[in-house]
Amino acid sequence: MPFPQPLHEYRATSDAELDSRIVNARKTLGEKALILGHHYQRSEILRHADLTGDSFALSRAAAQIRTCDSILFCGVHFMAETAYILANSPENLAARNGKSVTVSLSEMSAGCSMADLATEQQVETAWNAIGQIFDTTKIVPITYVNSTAAIKAFCGRHGGLSCTSSNAEAVLKWAFAHGDRVLFLPDQMLGLNTSLKMGLTLEETAVWNRKDEQLHAYSGDPQKSRIILWDGCCVIHLRFTADAIAETRAKYPDVKIIVHPECHPSVVEQADCVGSTSQIIETIAASKPGTVWAVGTEWHLVERLGKTFSNKTVINLGNNPSVCRTMALTHLADICYVLEHLAANDPVNLVTVDAVIAADARVCLERMLAAK
Ligand code: 13P
Ligand code: SF4
Repeated sequence: MPFPQPLHEYRATSDAELDSRIVNARKTLGEKALILGHHYQRSEILRHADLTGDSFALSRAAAQIRTCDSILFCGVHFMAETAYILANSPENLAARNGKSVTVSLSEMSAGCSMADLATEQQVETAWNAIGQIFDTTKIVPITYVNSTAAIKAFCGRHGGLSCTSSNAEAVLKWAFAHGDRVLFLPDQMLGLNTSLKMGLTLEETAVWNRKDEQLHAYSGDPQKSRIILWDGCCVIHLRFTADAIAETRAKYPDVKIIVHPECHPSVVEQADCVGSTSQIIETIAASKPGTVWAVGTEWHLVERLGKTFSNKTVINLGNNPSVCRTMALTHLADICYVLEHLAANDPVNLVTVDAVIAADARVCLERMLAAK
């Protein structure tokens, strides 16, 4: 059998064989490869990851890369782009005698529907229109890391930075220390949940509507806004409702509700705890045996939490598991395909970023990594 094979051959191979071939390819590659896995990946994929984490932890790991030549990112496209940008910083390249790190995405069609809701053209249009109302030199653009490299580059060029679900508050504080106003891209819910938590009012909040290309106030005058939210969202997280929380509390009186900050503010307000995927895991891990948790985030993580913490009860918030379809696209066949090709010195599924965009996007990401 020719080796390595085309992808369709891998798809026709049993999981048991794929598992053992992955282990062999991994051994051959040794320290030359690093496998990063986001918490929403299937458990059979994460078993093979060197590091699992939320978006922040995985970005930081990529930024600190010194020894390996290749990253396999089990996640979605913006995560692989971020890893490419940070792993190939000028400092890292200098430490590696100029040799760049290749980044392969586990499944090339795995995007993030939220990241797709803010294109460079749309953001430029909004920025120019907002500039008719406010002095944009005093607006700090923040982009949730769930965005394309081009949007990160836009923020980097305009004195802004990235955030993740675990550091949005620290980043907003940084932004308000460096400007009068914030444009928050692309997740309206994360921006609103974080600004409300920090004490901003709805009167100080406006939304940029991509369709009518107008600024809308939540209440009052948009001219008074201090934070302008992009009207993007994650449909997977918007499926969790305040009604589901009420029903869960009625059924399990001692239940603790924990949700991701991409959920609607009406859900976040009713929850006991809010956090990134890593913070959800840590909170449940630290709770007393016997605790009942209802979790509002992606189903593969919720299911794994239930199996991992067998001395606690972990259930999905509501009746319908919420699956991120693109995160679920990665199968063992994809991991085996990428690793065997790497081992044969024939990298596949490569994600790269144009050098000019990468330089500006790196400024945006590094400001986030430095903001405390
Ligand atoms: P975390 O950074 O919390 O892992 O979230 C990433 C994500 O895409 C949530 O939908
Ligand atoms: Fe994007 Fe939502 Fe999937 Fe997270 S869960 S990767 S925000 S579509």
